[in-house]
Amino acid sequence: MRLAVLTGAGVSAESGLKTFRDSDGLWEGYPVTEVATPGAWRKNPSLVLDFYNMRRRNVSDAIPNLAHHGLAELEKEFEVDIITQNIDDLHERAGSSSVLHLHGEIFKMRSERNERMIYEIRGDILLGDKAEDGHQLRPNIVWFEEPVPLIESAMRIVQQADLFIVVGTSLVVYPAAGLVHYAKWEAAKFIIDKRIPYTTDLHNLSLIEKPATEGVKDLIQILRTRYL
Ligand code: OAD
Repeated sequence: MRLAVLTGAGVSAESGLKTFRDSDGLWEGYPVTEVATPGAWRKNPSLVLDFYNMRRRNVSDAIPNLAHHGLAELEKEFEVDIITQNIDDLHERAGSSSVLHLHGEIFKMRSERNERMIYEIRGDILLGDKAEDGHQLRPNIVWFEEPVPLIESAMRIVQQADLFIVVGTSLVVYPAAGLVHYAKWEAAKFIIDKRIPYTTDLHNLSLIEKPATEGVKDLIQILRTRYL
């Protein structure tokens, strides 16, 4: 049985990583247009690099929580594909083997000119750090107004799944939010969130309004009772 799981910032909240929209719509005090758009990069690349250097440090210091571990555990019994909007690596560190990062990864950087010239990065990226093509390095992260290259792979994963699970996302950022509409009509669907977000009617939908760590525990119990 195939499970597709779409996760957002809420799955990492209990690991101490802040969500985007839980406080005033600001990211760590910054309006999104100042740190996560191509325009921001043109206007003030140092600020953008600093912002993501700080995010990288936060992620390095964080550890996976019981929600990440629970989703990884499900691989013992199901075929599980994680589609995450998160740029952290907590799903991988918890042991999930199939993780698609829709919005990029904080531990990767790329040439600002060539999106395929990608490198690992653990420390800071500084202004003046260049890729092999001589162009400035930037975080390998999808900013607002940029295309989401992995969305089609994500759609296929969702279309093929027998169960579709959403954990900790406000479902306001497209195209990721639209993935809920690609699930098979008959597939059982679950949304786990501290505050269930608005979604249009979905057939066969169950809501688990709890923090991710508790919600994933409940989900595992439901899946084991129903499908094993
Ligand atoms: P948001 O900050 O928009 O939403 C976080 C969701 O997590 C909300 O629905 C909260 O109710 C929920 N939440 C908070 N704490 C939780 C907890 N402990 N357990 C369960 N749920 C909890 O984050 P995303 O939906 O991930 O994109 O945001 C989507 C995208 O917006 C991000 O990937 C990012 C941002 O712009 C890019 O960087 C391109």
